[in-house]
This record gives sequence, C-alpha cells and structure tokens, in this order.
Amino acid sequence: MMGIEWNASSGQLHLHNKQVSYVVRVLENGSIGQLHFGAPLARGRSYRHLGRAGFAGFSNRLDDPIALEYPTAGGGDYRMPALTIEQADGSSMLRLDYVSHRIFPGKAGIPGLPSTYVEADDEATSLEIELADGPSKARVTLSYTIFRDHPIVSRRVRIRNGGTSRLRITTAMSTSLDLPDDDWTLVQLSGAWARERHITNRRLAPGRQSTASLRGASGHEHDPSLILRRASTTETAGEAYGFSLVYSGNFLAEAEVGPFGTTRVRLGINPEGFAWILEPGADFATPEAVLAFSEAGLDGLSLAYHRLYRERLARGTWRDRARPVLINNWEGTYFAFDETKLVDIATVARDLGIELFVLDDGWFGARDDDTSSLGDWFVDRRKLPNGIDGLARRIEALGLRFGLWIEPEMVSQRSQLFAAHPDWAIGIPGRSRTESRDQFVLDLSRPEIVDHLFAVLSELLASAPISYIKWDMNRNITEPGSLGLPADRQGEFFHRYILGVYDLYARLTTAFPEILFESCAGGGGRFDPGLLAYAPQAWTSDDTDAIERLRIQWGASLIYPLSSMGAHVSAVPNHQTGRLTPIGMRAAVAFFGVFGYELDATSLSPAECAEVADQVAFYKDHRELLQRGRFVRLRSPFEGDGNETAWMTVSDDRRQAIVGFYRTLTRPNPGVNRLRLRELDAALRYRVTTWPARADTIERDNALVRGGDELTEIGLFLDVDRHEVATHGDYWAQLFVLEAE
Ligand code: DGJ
Repeated sequence: MMGIEWNASSGQLHLHNKQVSYVVRVLENGSIGQLHFGAPLARGRSYRHLGRAGFAGFSNRLDDPIALEYPTAGGGDYRMPALTIEQADGSSMLRLDYVSHRIFPGKAGIPGLPSTYVEADDEATSLEIELADGPSKARVTLSYTIFRDHPIVSRRVRIRNGGTSRLRITTAMSTSLDLPDDDWTLVQLSGAWARERHITNRRLAPGRQSTASLRGASGHEHDPSLILRRASTTETAGEAYGFSLVYSGNFLAEAEVGPFGTTRVRLGINPEGFAWILEPGADFATPEAVLAFSEAGLDGLSLAYHRLYRERLARGTWRDRARPVLINNWEGTYFAFDETKLVDIATVARDLGIELFVLDDGWFGARDDDTSSLGDWFVDRRKLPNGIDGLARRIEALGLRFGLWIEPEMVSQRSQLFAAHPDWAIGIPGRSRTESRDQFVLDLSRPEIVDHLFAVLSELLASAPISYIKWDMNRNITEPGSLGLPADRQGEFFHRYILGVYDLYARLTTAFPEILFESCAGGGGRFDPGLLAYAPQAWTSDDTDAIERLRIQWGASLIYPLSSMGAHVSAVPNHQTGRLTPIGMRAAVAFFGVFGYELDATSLSPAECAEVADQVAFYKDHRELLQRGRFVRLRSPFEGDGNETAWMTVSDDRRQAIVGFYRTLTRPNPGVNRLRLRELDAALRYRVTTWPARADTIERDNALVRGGDELTEIGLFLDVDRHEVATHGDYWAQLFVLEAE
C-alpha cells in the first residue's frame, strides 16, 4: 500500500514518504527489530543487513547493541525498557513475538486521549503490529502512522491482557528508538515559571539523560519533547530528530547512550510512580509520540511540527479561523474591578480596534484575592450586579466579543464547593495537604467530579454570550492519590487525572463548538501538544516582558506554531521584570503569535492610544501571515551574547513576509549588520517597508524594491549611522514588511 511496504520473504515493513523512511523487520527469533528511522531509503529493497538476527542466534555477549522495536527487560538488553509488566508470579520479564500485522489507509484515534488525525484517508497510512508474550498472555499492538506530506511518523502502543490473571504495567512508553551512534546533542526546552521553554543544549554522554515531570502536568520546567541534533546542525543544515509527546501529564523524555555507543530514545508516560492494573480482557493505550526527522536543520523539524500541529492536531471551529485581537484585564486590574471599570476598559479597547474583551480571575464567589472561591462558579454580584450575562451583553453592545477566565480543576479551601465536598480535593487521608496558592486540586480522576464540573460550566457557558474561555491551572498536584481508587490502583492516579481533564475538555469543546478555548497554566505550565488538541491557542507565559518573550517564543517555536502562542502587550514597568521597554517593541514581539493586550486601556496616554490603534490595525492587516505564516528563525537570542534576535514569517506563496529584528542593548559606533532572510522567492522583487516607519538610514537603505535573491544572499541593511545610534537606544525593535511586486 502507498506509504507502507511489506516484504513477506524478509519480514520487512518499510514506512516511507519522500522525506523519511522507517524500517522494521520480523527477526528470525520472532521479535521485531528496528532497522532504520531517518533519511528516505529506496523502496523495493531489503534492509535486513542493517539489523542483527537477534539475541538467540548471536554471540554470548548479552549487552549487544541490537535494536529492538519495543524493548523489554530481563532478556539481556540492560538498557532501559519500553515495557515492563508485573505478572502473577511476580516476574516482570517479557519477550514480545510477532503475531500479525495490518496496514490501512488513514489513521485511527485513541479513545480518551488526544492525537493527530487525518481528514482524508490518503493523507496518511497506518500500520499495526500485533505482538504477544507467551507466558504472561500480554498482547501488545504497536501502532504507526506515516503522514504523506510530513517527515513524520507517529507511534503509540496498546497493551491488552489476553490471559486469565491480572497484569500490572509499570512502564509503557509511547516510543523507543535506537540510533546507531551517540554523536548527538540533546536539545531540550526547559525553564521555570516566567521563563519557560528556554533552549538548552547538552552533548550526550554514556548513561541516561532525561527531562521529566512528576507534577501531574507537563510543567513549566520542561516541554514533553526531546530533540537530537549533530554538533554541526544549524537552523538550515544538518540532521535532527524530534520526539514530541501528545500528552499533558507526567512524562519522561530520555536519551540513553549504551556501552557500545548507541543511543536509545524513550518518550512516554513517566514510569516513576506509574502502575496500571489490567484485568483479563482489559487494555491500556499510551499517548501518541510524534517523531520527526530533518536533514535540513532544526528549521525542517519546526516546519513539520508547525504544520501538523496547526492543521491536524488542533481541531474544531477555531482551528482555521483568524483569531481575534483581545484585551485581558488581569495585569490591568488584578482582582480590583467592577462592571463600570471593565466596560470603561472595553470601550477604550473598542475604539482602538480590539475585538475581544476577556474578563480574567476574580469574577466569581467572593474572590478579592487568590485565597478563596475557586470552585464556586457563580458570579460575584458585588462586582458584577448584572451578572456575567449583563456584562457580556454590554460588551457585545460595544461591538466586542466577550471572553471569560475559569480554573475548573481547582478548589479553594474557603469556598462553598470545599465546604460541601472536602473529599473532592486531592490528598492522602491522614496526611496534611501541601499549600500552594491557597488552593487544592480537584480529583478529576473521579468521573463524578468531572460530571459536576461539566454540569456547572456548561450552565455558565450557556448563560451568557461567551465567545472565548481561558482555562487556567495554577498549581501542581501534591499528596497524589484518589479516594476513588482502591489501594492497589493508586499508581493509576496521575494518568487518570489527565484522562479526566481531557474528558472535560472534550465534552465542553464539543458542547460549545463556537467558543474559542485558550489553555493556560500560570502561563506555560501545561503548554503541550495534548491540550492543543482541544484549545488551539495557549497562554505562552505569564512573563509579558518583551525581552524575556524573545527567548520564550523563540524556544516554543521549535515545536509550536504561531497560531498556538498567546502573546500580549502589557504595561511598563513590566510586572514580572520591572523593565521599561517601548510599547512599539512590546507589540513587535507580541505580533508573532496570537496577539492581544493585557493592561488597563483607560490609563493609556493619548500618544500610547495612537500607537496601540496603529498596532492593532497593523496586526489585523497582516493577521493571516502573523498567525499562520511559515515561521523562520534568523538570529537566536540563545547564541553569542544574545543581544540581537531576528525572525520572520512568510506566506505559502512566498509573496509576502514580515521580518522582526530586535536589539536589547544599544552599542555605540556599530559595525556593518546585514540580516539575511530565508524562504523568499529568488525570482521575485519585494517592496520593503518599515514598521514603525522611520526617516533614517534604515528606511532609506531598505525602502528600495529588492530582489528575493539579494535579500537571501546579502540581506536587509541594519546599519545605523553613527549619529543615529542614540535615536534607537536600548530595546529597539524594527519590523520589515516585504511584498512582492
Ligand atoms: C495565571 C495566569 O497565567 C494569568 O494570566 C492569570 O490568569 C492568573 N493566573 C489569574 O489568577
């Protein structure tokens, strides 16, 4: 079948498209060997010689670096296994043998879990390989999809108990991949609150190196992904592998260099603290791992992930729609607002061209600070005497849409919900609960709690003209455990929690298809592919400082498309850093994402209002390009002294582009500075204009119509005359708009 070739005589399965090949083979001893994932290989050939025959027929050196497709423990491969299952006799050894396989067009979903999808069967081809372990009667289905137009193979696994006694899964990775050398640099997106997704590089060394989460959420600390690149790989050249997990809970992303210089990558649910009981006949599905390969540098990986995640992971009414320019009152008022104040902000915002007003935290229960009321999702009439409905109608009457903040997974100790159901908060009986932001996490592993939240929230969403929901999540889980699970199933808790979150998201987004959902977790604390399947955009970080955002958005762009990254202009001094950047720079950074404002519009000066109106108009004029264009990274804030950053977005037909150039600190008497662009059409001529418009050398030198070839080979001029340096100052941002003649 197109996309996957089966060769019965060699037992070889070859998943292929123009950009990648993935080859496995049924070995002589019955297990599945991994022969290759990476650059495309010719079809119609046997690659048997790339893999060894298997332990049975090989030398007595146990640790031999044979590559098994889904390695298990106990058989002489001492690297970390992909699957371990405790059996009735207490052993955990498995030997998975080939039973059958099936190739089919299209792609199947995973019940209860988010995953990438196709809209027509010819977009992808899928393979399922059935494996079985004799003594335990465990049945394992390895599932693969190769996408026709992307250098991507996705993998996931289903484990079924085909026997008569209980099985207990303690490790079930979504993918394991053995690469034949260890000459790799591991790229991870790591950080903390307000500095999420910073790029960190480390050379692989013997042993295990990983990122992981045990928080019950993917976390601010690490993205659920792992990238491998050669030391020489750049943005545009060299090999790179991407491994990205479509999951929002505890994950493990690990590279293990074995004793013979091979690299094993594992990605999936974090085995630490995980145990899942399979009764006879029951099955368990892992999340999906999305593997990408590029021979054209990191840019090739990003392009693949951006397209797939924007078009075939995000879903629903808002997937392809232009996202509105919003204003959110959080940094503008925090908890101190009333209806008049909000309508005043919205009125100014409307006059500036903003399209959506979002009411953030503090509208419900009796919440004047963060110590109470989570869980009480009814309006606080002291602040909003006409209710959410009354406010929303006034906002709509102004000509804006109305959006609302919720934090469904939480409960405050001081709340009616907690008084009624103290046992709904996650905790371990007999132990005190760890305090964090004065709130506890509701046990969404219990279906009755998900049902309650669905009932309450659907009533709320139906009660007023609400066009947008910001779904926040502000603390991680401690004292993990569920009263809804028996003692021997507590190891299932974290995964069941996330299944509950997905269930609630799925039910609400299905019931309210017209509402645009934005996910949030104290900024980017659960910014991951799993939630992208329900909420097509996410609040990238609570850090709205333009300089900090350069790094955060650059890092996130390794995997995530512009259409997924919420980016707002906020007031100065910045509330996270105290930094004073010009409002033009704040906008020039936030334009590259889903744009909005996060400030009290009534306190803008007339000059600032004029700038904001111009910014909003600019964004609306170029929205398609800024939300859905081909994003290209040009100059990294993580390289050199990080003083300059540049990126661009290009239309699919290459006729339009917007380039963003940012300089943190000014330097006197500067040298020559050229910014070479990419992805333009060498044969076209582009009219280059500047935003904000300038009357200096930058404007003069670039305002001539220029060839795509020139802009690519020589670049834009960023030279500033000596006497002009001072006029730019620190925190200088310059956009260039390119339009083909
Ligand atoms: C954390 C979010 O990231 C902020 O944007 C804001 O919504 C606050 N929570 C509200 O408590």
